[in-house]
Amino acid sequence: MNIGVFGTGTVGRTIAGKLHDLGHAVMMGTRDVAVARERAAGPRDSESFAEWEARHPKAEAGSLAEAAAHGEILFNCTAGHASLDALTAAGTDNLAGKILVDVANPLEFPGGVLSLIVCNTDSLAEQIQRAFPETKVIKSLNTVTARVMVEPGELGQGDHHVFLCGDDAGARQRVEEILREWFGWRQVIDLGDLTGARGMEMYLPLWVRLMSVQETPAFNVKVVRQG
Ligand SMILES: NC(=O)c1ccc[n+]([C@@H]2O[C@H](COP(=O)([O-])OP(=O)(O)OC[C@H]3O[C@@H](n4cnc5c(N)ncnc54)[C@H](OP(=O)(O)O)[C@@H]3O)[C@@H](O)[C@H]2O)c1
Repeated sequence: MNIGVFGTGTVGRTIAGKLHDLGHAVMMGTRDVAVARERAAGPRDSESFAEWEARHPKAEAGSLAEAAAHGEILFNCTAGHASLDALTAAGTDNLAGKILVDVANPLEFPGGVLSLIVCNTDSLAEQIQRAFPETKVIKSLNTVTARVMVEPGELGQGDHHVFLCGDDAGARQRVEEILREWFGWRQVIDLGDLTGARGMEMYLPLWVRLMSVQETPAFNVKVVRQG
């Protein structure tokens, strides 16, 4: 399947790499291909984008608009504060009618302190849906670190949960299939309409604190209910 992945950061490369290895035709969308290829690996990255491309020879790189036009299914893996700008550059027409899996978190760190740039009665996913009403926005995977997104079985044999939500029931079902069949998730909770993204995004301050005290991003939550 043709898939467009917006953002060449850790998450974009991890999701695109998994899809590439599964045999999908992946195009990474970036603001500037040449700049992305020249960028050195970040302090928490094991490799640069150029090194990643060398390991994934069938993956293409193009503008945000080219990746959006290429993809039948799209993944938003851009920094949350920049997602609306990135998707605007991708182009309303290129996004229309397609599923957009929104993995981004609306975080900023003014003075080094984590802050949500949208919360309570709104979310980044809802902002994206309002800006692109013809696109089927599904929030998912934002509550785990990149590696766990595509290799959940590496944690506790996969006995932990991922969430999704979105206004289009058919798109939610399709993304649940993708999570299970492509990425190997065994426990998926469908939170219903896109207002569910508020809680998914507001979980991040707790996630960051858990990462800090456990000294690893490789963890997840498990929902246990009676009966
Ligand atoms: N890291 C994780 O494990 C993790 C886990 C869950 C969710 N998330 C979320 O997933 C998203 C991606 O995270 P990340 O760690 O891969 O990297 P990131 O540093 O948060 O985002 C980097 C990407 O955002 C794009 N970007 C940055 N500023 C931009 C701007 N002004 N206009 C357009 N695009 C811009 C860049 O695209 P270019 O290719 O053009 O440079 C880059 O690829 C974030 O929203 C993050 O909160 C991350």
